Amino acid sequence: MEPLLTEIDHVAIAVIDLDAAIAWYAENFGATVEHREVVESDGVAEALLRVADSYIQLLTPTREDSPVAKYLAKKGEGLHHVGYRVANCAQALDALRASGSRLIDEAPRPGSRGTTVAFVHPKTSFGTLIELVEDPAATS
Ligand code: CO
Repeated sequence: MEPLLTEIDHVAIAVIDLDAAIAWYAENFGATVEHREVVESDGVAEALLRVADSYIQLLTPTREDSPVAKYLAKKGEGLHHVGYRVANCAQALDALRASGSRLIDEAPRPGSRGTTVAFVHPKTSFGTLIELVEDPAATS
């Protein structure tokens, strides 16, 4: 089949103190924030730090009942999910559905910075929460 993944869009890391994490990445790697956004529907605040054509996405919960808050309570800080860039989110989701993969989002939905996204459950993806990211502004 034609490869569906065009880039690692982002590596998402759950943190308790967003500003402290941003400062750490700046101090140790010279990484700077390109975009900040609060995604109310997901209950998260995020900061995107660009690395070439990809991002480090630092995530922190904005409310106690958000999935990221539950993740932090259960597992602590650390790698939360990997965002794979795809040309067409709906098409990639259909391929996963057809293979019997467990989906979190049955249909693509709006993500941050104007993207279209869908999450795939870690149960059938070898323990990794995967986000499919369609970014109209991306070059790859
Ligand atoms: Co993400």
